[in-house]
Amino acid sequence: MQLQLQTWPDVETYLKRSDGIIMPIGSTEQHGPIGLVGTDALCAEIVARGVGEKAQALVAPTINVGMAQHHLGFPGSMTLRPSTMIAVVRDMVQSLARHGFRRFFFINGHGGNIATVTAAFSEIYADASLAGGSNTPGIHCRLKNWWESPGVGRLSKELYGKAEGSHATPSEVALTWYGWPQAERHQKMEPAIAPNGSFTDAFDYRRNFPDGRIGSNPDLATREAGQRLYEAAVGDIAGDYLGFVGKGATV
Ligand code: NI
Repeated sequence: MQLQLQTWPDVETYLKRSDGIIMPIGSTEQHGPIGLVGTDALCAEIVARGVGEKAQALVAPTINVGMAQHHLGFPGSMTLRPSTMIAVVRDMVQSLARHGFRRFFFINGHGGNIATVTAAFSEIYADASLAGGSNTPGIHCRLKNWWESPGVGRLSKELYGKAEGSHATPSEVALTWYGWPQAERHQKMEPAIAPNGSFTDAFDYRRNFPDGRIGSNPDLATREAGQRLYEAAVGDIAGDYLGFVGKGATV
């Protein structure tokens, strides 16, 4: 149930039965030689839409650009500054809160967003606490990383083991190929499993990880695996969402 495909009376009716909404958030950044630049935003979006259908919940427009300064050494990558992302999250949440939404369940596709989105939640809570000085129930925000649901974790380990890595993973690439089958392409990786390690900024990242991958072999991805990962993520996270909005994990 996408917010963008409703009318305002539809939303008014929805608010009579629920104050919860799903907020997909991702990133636009390189994902190695065969992964799409939109991988993190597309993963958040497809999982959010699935959860929205299963939990009969509204899904807000995806926040497609995130914290990706460290990927700017690769063409096509885009980033917001942390202060911009905090402002975007805060304005989106507070716009919806005017209408009566109170529970904001962010489904995240990018590890680099976590610190900043969490800071945005703190700003939103501070706004509510410091503006009026009352202790009335306010806005509740939660961040769920799709790749950290238990079913996805088990499946990624079973399918890919050490080749899962941490960036341009076969799991996230497979999920995008399930959603957008025309994107599937294969290429032998050299080395098969990319190096692991740390980095500071964009320059350092490209020097340490020249093809963009960290610890992964995305060439192991398949659309079939993507479907299994999708089903695992949607099943787990729909339960989490319903718990968050107070309906229990009854799907
Ligand atoms: Ni990613």
